[in-house]
Amino acid sequence: MVTEVIKIDRDHPDMSAFEKAGRILKEGGLVAFPTETVYGLGADALDEEASRKIYEAKGRPSDNPLIVHIARMEDLEKIVKKVPEEAVKLAQRYWPGPMTLIMEKSECVPYGTTGGLDTVAVRMPSDPVARELILQGGGYVAAPSANTSGRPSPTTARHVYEDMEGKIPLILDGGPVEIGLESTIVDLTERIPTILRPGYITLEMVREVLGEVQMDKGLISSDSSVRPKAPGMKYRHYAPKADLKIVEGPMEKVIAYINEKASEKERPGIICTEETRSRYLYGDVKCIGSRTDENAIASHLFAILREFDEDGVDAIYSESFESPGLGQAIMNRLLKAAGHQRVDVSQKV
Ligand code: TXA
Ligand code: MG
Repeated sequence: MVTEVIKIDRDHPDMSAFEKAGRILKEGGLVAFPTETVYGLGADALDEEASRKIYEAKGRPSDNPLIVHIARMEDLEKIVKKVPEEAVKLAQRYWPGPMTLIMEKSECVPYGTTGGLDTVAVRMPSDPVARELILQGGGYVAAPSANTSGRPSPTTARHVYEDMEGKIPLILDGGPVEIGLESTIVDLTERIPTILRPGYITLEMVREVLGEVQMDKGLISSDSSVRPKAPGMKYRHYAPKADLKIVEGPMEKVIAYINEKASEKERPGIICTEETRSRYLYGDVKCIGSRTDENAIASHLFAILREFDEDGVDAIYSESFESPGLGQAIMNRLLKAAGHQRVDVSQKV
């Protein structure tokens, strides 16, 4: 299959590109498209056979459910049993935007889309390209991130092309995405609303609207027998080919430790910030942004992990990026990429 890439001019969008994409979706095919979080790999969510193609193209385990994307609030009713009051409140505040809600599914959503679950994940993205595509495609577009399963999520059309060339007919190229981390997932089927995946919409932001909200214990527990509830969160993810370790502690000790380790490797990779860049002496040093700009750190993370694969480094050391807002989402992705390997250098002399 030849994979066509159509550039979308955001100021003067060519409607024929959307019509073409919409036709492919309605005929049961796949189209990759930008959203404000990451690029998605779309199919008609109500067509079981179309959803199956997504799993095939990504090499994704079939028990890992897809998110259904909508563009209009009135379309929600059809795919859920009942619209919970919490969903209305959260949607008023954060939709369209980087938030996914889990609710009981209605009959018309096939199990092939929900990974066999009786619940469905729904999101209304804010990117106008995504919204137009959803409307042209019939209103319900199932879309996981458009990467091969296990690789970092794509934040540019080129990342999508790397993973999907020859497997899908069309990629809409809307340029680099805005946020760079996948949406926050809020499960509304538990007695206490629960965050299953941290993202741009933080726990505090959800609490502001709903009051009592909890983090999924599987996300924060150091006990690995406590499994995360979102099936996708249990898989190794975002993993670069080289071994990645996160180094934590006072900054001077972190820099000294990374320099020492890097000097012992043939082709080390380092993830640092603008503030520390000039301090690293060896290897492939990549600057993720300023420590004071967590939006920049979020938007560069996945691209940097992909670059290390291209560069063929043999070990990667990263500084840690705790920060008040997005820090939880950034560290969640980075820890998964590192297979949870962290080194605490605070006691080292
Ligand atoms: O920002 C995003 O959410 C992007 C863009 C394309 O919208 N999509 C995305 O999809 O990240 P994906 O498939 O890569 O991640 C979806 C996550 C998985 O961890 C999956 O297990 C979880 O959502 N999920 C989906 N449906 C669920 C359900 N019914 N119950 C629990 N978790 C669910
Ligand atoms: Mg994904």
